[in-house]
Amino acid sequence: MPKNPWARNPWFETVSVAQRRAEKRLPSSVYSALLAGSERGQSYQDNMAAFTELGFAPHIVGPSSDRVLATTVMGQDISMPVVISPTGVQAVHPDGEVAVARAAAARGTAMGLSSFASKPIEEVVSANPKTFFQMYWMGSKDDMLARMERARAAGAVGLIATLDWSFSMGRDWGSPEIPEKIDLHAAMRFAPQVLRRPRWLYDFAKSKQIPDLTAPNLAEPGDRGPTFFGAYYEWMQTPAPTWDDVQWLRKEWDGPFMLKGVCRIDDAHRAVDAGCTAISVSNHGGNNLDGTPAAIRMLKPIADAVGNDIEVLLDGGIRRGSDVVKALCLGARAVMIGRAYLWGLAANGQAGVENVLDILRGGVDSTLLAMRLPSVHDLTPDHLVMPDNFHRILGLPSQADVGTTP
Ligand SMILES: Cc1cc2nc3c(=O)[nH]c(=O)nc-3n(C[C@H](O)[C@H](O)[C@H](O)COP(=O)(O)O)c2cc1C
Repeated sequence: MPKNPWARNPWFETVSVAQRRAEKRLPSSVYSALLAGSERGQSYQDNMAAFTELGFAPHIVGPSSDRVLATTVMGQDISMPVVISPTGVQAVHPDGEVAVARAAAARGTAMGLSSFASKPIEEVVSANPKTFFQMYWMGSKDDMLARMERARAAGAVGLIATLDWSFSMGRDWGSPEIPEKIDLHAAMRFAPQVLRRPRWLYDFAKSKQIPDLTAPNLAEPGDRGPTFFGAYYEWMQTPAPTWDDVQWLRKEWDGPFMLKGVCRIDDAHRAVDAGCTAISVSNHGGNNLDGTPAAIRMLKPIADAVGNDIEVLLDGGIRRGSDVVKALCLGARAVMIGRAYLWGLAANGQAGVENVLDILRGGVDSTLLAMRLPSVHDLTPDHLVMPDNFHRILGLPSQADVGTTP
């Protein structure tokens, strides 16, 4: 029988094809760690489902060539309004965040590097100078200063402070078992699922590495860093920050600064007051407090309130170029993607991440073409069809609070 000529074609057409390939390629515990979500998955599902409630209101006549996709985020010129959101990509691919950084650089965009990343920031910045370092509020102030200092010395061009992750417990579809470290005991225990994923195993064997479950950017350069669980424990022991702490963090990082995870208008105003450069409207990809509305539902009320004072981004649920366009119509300057590039990385390493970025770029471009619009900067709510009850307005200051009388 002739061989199926497509069987080995590594290129994929959509993010959902990449996800299916990732599921086939990754050991089940790694796949389910990426899928994540919390509790019943209401926020995770709504992040994606809410985009399907939005439609387009296209023109039929207008410019049809030379569409502008380029923009800037936190002082960086990027070729399209899509940025890599920080995720710990432990064990997905031997080149981990370095592969993601190379792909983002090849496609002209910026990258957020997680505190929980598996690769040192120095290697990531040399692969992509447009790197923002992401920090949680964890450890002592001296620890945080040392981490910022290391990021600055490595050449990070911005800081992302993520404050919206707590300790959500339990998923109805099960949480993966993740070993503290990969030793012989863990290797034996995980052998059955790993041996069923020979291509994943082969990639690691070829690179002569075993998945390294440490967080090197939480230590001095050159040190191994705490284990993933050690870092997690440190973070759980750290009391949550106050707004004074946010101001302190912002002041200590004298460069572009993003607050990630904003859901409410009052918090967005406080981010402006704290001197942040940008916010990302986000519910952490549905991995935090289940029941928080989809990021896209919270976007417009926040962008309307603070969009002239701060850069507003969105992350959560972006799977296609038309999703990016919808977010821009509702006031985002750009979006950040999480799982979309993780599926690409799992499916085909650096080329897979480039493939995902190409899908999104192509999708933004073809949506603009179909709407007869010349630029991402021309998108407005008027280009969307929206149900009346689409938006979720959280934390609107009451008239008494803002001192106005009816
Ligand atoms: C597996 C995984 C790990 C993540 N790790 C981090 C992290 O270390 N820091 C952070 O700020 N956000 C983290 N996030 C959240 C993402 O940055 C982003 O907010 C989310 O993935 C966006 O939703 P999407 O996956 O639907 O694009 C993580 C998300 C996933 C799925």
